[in-house]
Amino acid sequence: MIDEVLTVLRPRPGGSYLDGTVGGGGHSEGLLDHSSPDGRLLCTDADPDALERASKRLIRFNGRVIMRQAWLDEVPAVAHTLGYTPLDGALVDLGLSSDQLDNAARGFSFMHDGPLDMRFDPTHGYTAAQLINQSDVAYLTHILREYGEVLRAGKVAEAIWSARPISTTFQLRDAVAGIARSRGRIHPATQVFQALRIAANDELRRLSDALPQLVDCLAPGGRLAVITFHSLEDRIVKQAFRRFATRSDMQPEAEIYTALSNVTVRLITHKPIMPSEAEVAANARARSAKLRVVEKLG
Ligand SMILES: C[S@@+](CC[C@H](N)C(=O)[O-])C[C@H]1O[C@@H](n2cnc3c(N)ncnc32)[C@H](O)[C@@H]1O
Repeated sequence: MIDEVLTVLRPRPGGSYLDGTVGGGGHSEGLLDHSSPDGRLLCTDADPDALERASKRLIRFNGRVIMRQAWLDEVPAVAHTLGYTPLDGALVDLGLSSDQLDNAARGFSFMHDGPLDMRFDPTHGYTAAQLINQSDVAYLTHILREYGEVLRAGKVAEAIWSARPISTTFQLRDAVAGIARSRGRIHPATQVFQALRIAANDELRRLSDALPQLVDCLAPGGRLAVITFHSLEDRIVKQAFRRFATRSDMQPEAEIYTALSNVTVRLITHKPIMPSEAEVAANARARSAKLRVVEKLG
């Protein structure tokens, strides 16, 4: 959704921007091109391989771009420390890059046999295999239900638990074959893999924590654009943006929102922007993408 992102973020020369999920660097390249000659961009990602690839792609912008490894909820602090705030625009493009999905060694896909890793940062934390092998059925059920909306989560969790120890993607795929039910036309293992990836990377908690802080980093008139790929992420973004836009609805129980007590945000997208038919035809993975945008008021 590169054109849509550039339209809503309106990068301009001299501006200060953030790409909080640089991935392969496609969106970053567009932001740098459109903010030439002196707009600057902070690129972050939890995945060191992504940063390395993006650095090569963006080498011609040397001097206008900084790369840092960071989880989404750490990015606001990094932006402050590096003097990138206030930001004129920030992008978060959640989920997985094609490079990650297609690399069997990363263990994200049931289409490729490989170690069941699934960590965005392979140097820290628990792999998906460790999560499975060290969890009981109740916790596995919780992961599958909360992070994958897996149908018959208890039965699927029992099947996984009985198949332990699990160390590869194909072992997990085979363990749920015939038990996991698909929603729509997707492969039955899709939501099981999604659930474990979200758990291994603590993705939903990081997203919830990051959103108010990212809004806090914006300059007046600055915009935050978030692209999500499944309903759990989209619900978090939609509800957070609505809360930010109607301060009276903000819940004081969330300590994090107190930082926003003087902030007013305008919803730029009341309904999410979806990818064009042409983009979906060219890249089937884009079909579930949703783009939501807010703008910080003065
Ligand atoms: C869909 S890709 C981004 C693609 C990128 N916009 C491009 O143009 O190539 C998502 C990226 O976000 C990173 N990511 C996902 N969740 C993250 C999180 N919570 N913290 C940091 N990075 C995250 C992944 O490692 C991946 O590289």
